[in-house]
Formats: sequence, C-alpha cells, structure tokens
Amino acid sequence: MMNIIVTGGAGFIGANFIFYMLRKHPGYRIVCVDKLTYAGNILTLQPIMKEPDFRFEKLDICDREGVYRLFEEEKPDVVVNFAAESHVDRSITDPSVFLQTNIIGTGVLMDACCKYGIKRFHQVSTDEVYGDLPLDRPDLFFTEQTPLHASSPYSASKASADLLVMAYHRTFGLPVTISRCSNNYGPYQFPEKLIPLMISNALTDKPLPVYGDGLNVRDWLYVEDHCRAIDLILHNGQEGEVYNVGGHNEMNNITIVKLICQELGKPESLITYVTDRKGHDRRYAIDPAKIHAELDWLPETRFAEGIRKTVRWYVDNRQWWEKILSGEYLKG
Ligand code: DAU
Repeated sequence: MMNIIVTGGAGFIGANFIFYMLRKHPGYRIVCVDKLTYAGNILTLQPIMKEPDFRFEKLDICDREGVYRLFEEEKPDVVVNFAAESHVDRSITDPSVFLQTNIIGTGVLMDACCKYGIKRFHQVSTDEVYGDLPLDRPDLFFTEQTPLHASSPYSASKASADLLVMAYHRTFGLPVTISRCSNNYGPYQFPEKLIPLMISNALTDKPLPVYGDGLNVRDWLYVEDHCRAIDLILHNGQEGEVYNVGGHNEMNNITIVKLICQELGKPESLITYVTDRKGHDRRYAIDPAKIHAELDWLPETRFAEGIRKTVRWYVDNRQWWEKILSGEYLKG
C-alpha cells in the first residue's frame, strides 16, 4: 500500500497517471495537488472526486506552508511531481512563471520531503533538457549520458529542476528518480499542444497552423505507456537514477497534421504554414534502452493505433475541449 502525492494531477499527464494508478493498484491512496492554472482542469477529475482513496487539494507547489501542512496531514510515501508550466511557446512570451513553478516549486516539494521523510521523490522531466538533434543524423539519440543543453526558457527551467533534484540526492540523501519523456499524446491533453490543437481546429474548420517548414521531428509516446513507465520506476527503479522514456516513434509535424486531416475527413487546405517558433528545436529522439534493460519497459501503443484512439476521444468528448475553448472549465 502506498500514499502518493501527485502534483499537477489536474493536467494532462498527471490526470492520466492518477487514473492509471487507481486502476492498477486498488488500495493505493492518491492525493492530487494542483494549483488549477489554465492548464489544470478539475472537470477531468470529476469522475473520481468521491472515490474513498482519492483526495484533491487545490494548492500551489510554491506555497511552502501549504505543502508542509499537507505533508503533516498525509505523511506520503511517494511524491510524483508533474506540476509544471510546460508549453514552450508560453515560456518564450513569459519565462518568469516557468522559473517559479518548475524550479522553486520543485525545491519546496523536496524540502518537504527532507523535513518529513519520504520513500521516493520522482521528478517528471522531459527530453527537451538535452536540446535538439540534427535532422541529417538519424543515427543520433538522447541517452541518459547526453549533456544537458536546453534551448527554451521552458526546457532550461526543467533542466535546472533536474540538477536540483540530483543535488538533493547527493547532498541530503533524498531518494529520488527522474524520468525524461518524449512528446506525449492521448486523452485530456490541453488544446494548445500540436495534436489536440490540430484536432480541435480541424473539427471546427479552423486553420491548422504549422510552424516553419513543418519538418521538425518529435518522438511521440502514448500517455498510458508513459504512466506505466513511471509506475515501474517507482516500484523497481534505482534511487539517484535517470530514465529516458521514448516512444520509438519519430514523426515530423506535417505528417501528423495530414494524418489528423485524413482521420477526420477534413481537407489539407486547412493547413497554414506560419512563422516558426523562436529557437525551434529540430529533432528529439530518445534511446530508451536503459529502462528497457533494467525495468523491462517498452512502449506498447503503436502510433497508428494511438492517434486513432486519440482522435476518437476528442470527437467523443467534444464537451471537454469546448469548455476549455469557451473558458467555462475555469469555473469548475
Ligand atoms: O518533448 C517533450 C515535450 O513535448 C514536453 O516537455 C513539453 O512540455 C511539450 O509541450 C512538448 O513540447 P513541444 O514543443 O515539442 O510540443 P508542442 O505540442 O508545443 O509542439 C510539437 C511540435 O509541433 C513542435 O515542433 C512545434 C510544432 N507546432 C506546435 C504548435 C502548438 C506547430 O507546428 N504548430 C503549433 O500550433
């Protein structure tokens, strides 16, 4: 039995993780901490709000007093930190909140872990901390040994947090693990990220804005595969270790956007090439050999199947994203 604090649990990956854990480990207690920023959606958690093994606490991870109070009440065994500002474009417009939540917030959580004791602090990080890879070197991949070389304020804030996590491990002996994932996709993703934005725009016959030449490559990972990886790391991962989690699935943006048009029966004439993102990373590609060898993890969802399921989910759950677009979700 475990009592797990999941921060950022009203966001995309956090919520999927909570659903996964409640299903997979009946009897585990999950305490979801979320500030409910624009990216958190309490409606996502509505179906589990009354579950006896679930608690929701509206709280900013930078609120030291609030975090300490929660640790005193809950005495968690494990903290999984998903809480983060995560959208690269927003970090280019306004970096400051990224530094606050992603770095200071992580520090506050780890101080609480040191003060009250913990069996594991798990930091959910990103492959973006490694920077990018050239398009003409398909032989290159990010491994856990690849030096940190962040490009955007977002990825620099995540890289800073990773350094802090490792420093708390070395200095205070905090039992930590870090996972660095590639691009996730699946249900409940906020419609500002590539896949849900393109699906919701296509469904409402709006233009599909492709940055630059559309040839940037990402390594797409179905969110449930990512959740399974974190579960394995919590149970069997080695303290002080980093695990890369990738989808073995490199695709360029334009291919994905065309595929979405095809799935939805929408014309490619909706595609509009727009000004490129500043400092736009060219290619991400993860080598997940370590987590495969040590924890026997491999992505199980093929992209063809994952994207079909995802498109279907957005078609069937139109209300969920329409309430986001109208702002109604912020009222709870
Ligand atoms: O690699 C993991 C990272 O993946 C996470 O750490 C980030 O939190 C997450 O946001 C994601 O970062 P990206 O910048 O790769 O994701 P995004 O969905 O914003 O963009 C994916 C690609 O699509 C990227 O090359 C930019 C492009 N793009 C994005 C948007 C929103 C477009 O061409 N048009 C768009 O409107």
